[in-house]
Amino acid sequence: GMYQEINRPQIHYSPSAGFMNDPNGLFVDDDGLFHLYFQYNPNQTVAGNQHWGHATSKDGYAWDNHPIALAPEKAGEGIFSGSIVVDRNNTSGFFGDDVKPGDRVVAIYTLNTEDNQTQDIAYSKDGGYTFTKYERNPVIDLKTTQFRDPKVFWDEQHSHWVMAVAHPQSYEVGFYTSADLKSWQETSRFSGGLWGYQFECPGLVQIPIVGGPRNGEKMWTLLVSINPGAPLGGSVQQYFFGDFSNGKFTANDTAVRFADFGKDFYAAQTYFNAPEGQAIIQGWASNWQYTQVAPTARGDSGWRSAQSLPRTMTARWTQYNPMYNGYQLSMEPLPFGTLAGAELAQRATSNTTVQLKGDGAFDVRATFAVPADAKNAETARLRVKTRGGAFLDVGALVKPGDPATIYTDRRKAGVTFADTNSFFTDRASVAVMPLRRDPADAKSDQLIDLHVVVDRTLTEVFAQNGTVSASTLTYWDNNEFPSSLQIGLSSKDITLESLSVKPIASTWK
Ligand code: FRU
Repeated sequence: GMYQEINRPQIHYSPSAGFMNDPNGLFVDDDGLFHLYFQYNPNQTVAGNQHWGHATSKDGYAWDNHPIALAPEKAGEGIFSGSIVVDRNNTSGFFGDDVKPGDRVVAIYTLNTEDNQTQDIAYSKDGGYTFTKYERNPVIDLKTTQFRDPKVFWDEQHSHWVMAVAHPQSYEVGFYTSADLKSWQETSRFSGGLWGYQFECPGLVQIPIVGGPRNGEKMWTLLVSINPGAPLGGSVQQYFFGDFSNGKFTANDTAVRFADFGKDFYAAQTYFNAPEGQAIIQGWASNWQYTQVAPTARGDSGWRSAQSLPRTMTARWTQYNPMYNGYQLSMEPLPFGTLAGAELAQRATSNTTVQLKGDGAFDVRATFAVPADAKNAETARLRVKTRGGAFLDVGALVKPGDPATIYTDRRKAGVTFADTNSFFTDRASVAVMPLRRDPADAKSDQLIDLHVVVDRTLTEVFAQNGTVSASTLTYWDNNEFPSSLQIGLSSKDITLESLSVKPIASTWK
């Protein structure tokens, strides 16, 4: 039945049918419900005819589908990416006293036509389920085909709305402010990092700082997606830490940093009104390089793409890495709570194989130690394997004294669809991320922690307290999904310190 297909992630959001790309309009309502909207073509399994689909979730794992929230008026037009705010104080004037403050929802999105991209708005009086387009749209029109993806937040300090929006092919993020969501003034533009072919889906957010001299404060973080032009090919999201004042973002430095080093995390945006000042982000778990030929369009429904797990972001202190100004972006999935089942990895040793019994979703945590006096480069590997022998590797390469490397390797993970697209399992799909070590710690064991969430065709890695994350798609041969997890250690110099493998119950039952 629906959502039971072998390629379906069981704890990630995917549309019942049709094509999905970017998350849009993410917000948390007054009941704590997560609202996920998304770029959606309901009629085909390729992009085009873009709508905003809609789903909600209490925990970020179990989703309910809702009717389409925003649809284009004419053929050839598209409702492109954007964001949602709750206009509690009715700054827009759209809402009467009869509409509860928490139900005053305004969507800010790009209307894409053949010869223009404009920023438009629509309001909902029922908390985000049905929308009316503003009769005086557009609210910003620069008469250009390259101007999109508005992400709006409320600036507490200045009591106005702030929009970050992409000028894609001039490689700039524009900042605008507004008192009422209708009239917008440009305040500045930012350019930096890796340009690629175009900038898309920018977002400015304050994220909690953990550790170091600024512990407990917030870090201004600018998210910018580029496509194509990622080092591994296709699309990727980068981020900048910096400051935002007088309507202007200034990056701390000129370094290029990626939010997620895998090939399948793009156009991620944060939830407006996340509880307790948290920054919760969700990304499209695919890549424009091959998304339109991914082998999920067959079968009973025909669907393409999933969203990543919702992830909590922090800026973590890594003082041994001056290049990163001491802070690095960290992401961890929301807790699984009661969805997690009983431990599958009892009495784990270095050559343990854990049988993966369950619905196809697993939460894996492993810690490895390399002694400081180890002479050789060592590897620690988690191999996720099917009965037929296809496998995905997630591991660490550790050479004492040098930066370690976390990697994922999907070259042997099954269906390649190389006949239509060679980018899926080419060499670039070996994704690596260096990991520096605190020199002050050089005499103690080097500890590597890997947190891996496997969900049939989608695996997300969160290593070293989430400071190294990677999202990776795999399409397994022979209608299988992984049935075992093997530990692989290069020598006795590297040891498995701990292992936990828990099945996560399917949320689509
Ligand atoms: C990013 C993107 C956005 C655009 C949307 C169209 O993946 O290209 O820039 O608004 O997708 O679906």
